[in-house]
Amino acid sequence: MAATAAVGRLEGKVAIVTGSGSGFGLGIAKKFVQEGAKVIIADISQENGERVSTELNSKFLYTDVTRRDNWEALLQATLDEHGKLDIIVNNAGTTYRNKPTEDVTDADFDLCTNVNIRSIFLSASVIIPYFIQNNRPGCFIQISSTAALRPRPGLTWYNASKAAVSTATKTMAVEYGPKKIRFNCVCPVVGSTGLTHLFLGKPDTVENRAAFVSTIPLGRGSTPADVANACSFLASEEAEFITGVDLEVDGGRCV
Ligand SMILES: NC(=O)c1ccc[n+]([C@@H]2O[C@H](COP(=O)([O-])OP(=O)(O)OC[C@H]3O[C@@H](n4cnc5c(N)ncnc54)[C@H](O)[C@@H]3O)[C@@H](O)[C@H]2O)c1
Repeated sequence: MAATAAVGRLEGKVAIVTGSGSGFGLGIAKKFVQEGAKVIIADISQENGERVSTELNSKFLYTDVTRRDNWEALLQATLDEHGKLDIIVNNAGTTYRNKPTEDVTDADFDLCTNVNIRSIFLSASVIIPYFIQNNRPGCFIQISSTAALRPRPGLTWYNASKAAVSTATKTMAVEYGPKKIRFNCVCPVVGSTGLTHLFLGKPDTVENRAAFVSTIPLGRGSTPADVANACSFLASEEAEFITGVDLEVDGGRCV
């Protein structure tokens, strides 16, 4: 009997992954490429974006997700390169350093809300009309956080920004379900990425992560592969009946 060639879960799909120059976003972009998708690497770091673009043989576009004109250019570049768009992973995010809430500055607050919430607003505002005008199904995946569901001290406005991401996502899931546009969140627990030292408020070492990790039943933090596997499933046809969920990728942390 002839062997059937394995077909990737995302074969034929075109995806934008924001913040894919490093951390979880890089893991997501790698997994999507392995699963057969064409991926546009979108990041504010030119250096990291170009490196990943070469590594994955995928187009990079310098993108600041807080700017409408950058989202418009990102959609256009995707259509110019691949002729269509199927999946948007809103992964780019940031935080201020863990600190008492009364010490948070206006700049800390603005950074968090702009990068974490405004990006979701702009992606929806620019890309939903593309799906509707072209009568295409669409898939948005936002990288939210366990911080949205089980907030811990010292990160009030980061946590609140992720809660806004989760609530906006559920709202859009019900609003655009009839148009076959799906919206889901993936909620990682602490990992080891470019942001971890800010979440911890101290250097990202095994010792400094230990207190947090001790609250995770499966006994470790999230890896880029954990987050990428969840995104790959949610982006695939196998998840066609799943919308409006917060998928915790947290080793049981939020139970
Ligand atoms: N690391 C964790 O413990 C953890 C836990 C839960 C959720 N998250 C979320 O995961 C997502 C990815 O973060 P990460 O942990 O991989 O950190 P990271 O710093 O390694 O990656 C974030 C990426 O986003 C990019 N970025 C930042 N601001 C941007 C902007 N304005 N426009 C475009 N790109 C921008 C950065 O250049 C970077 O490549 C974030 O949304 C974060 O909130 C992280």
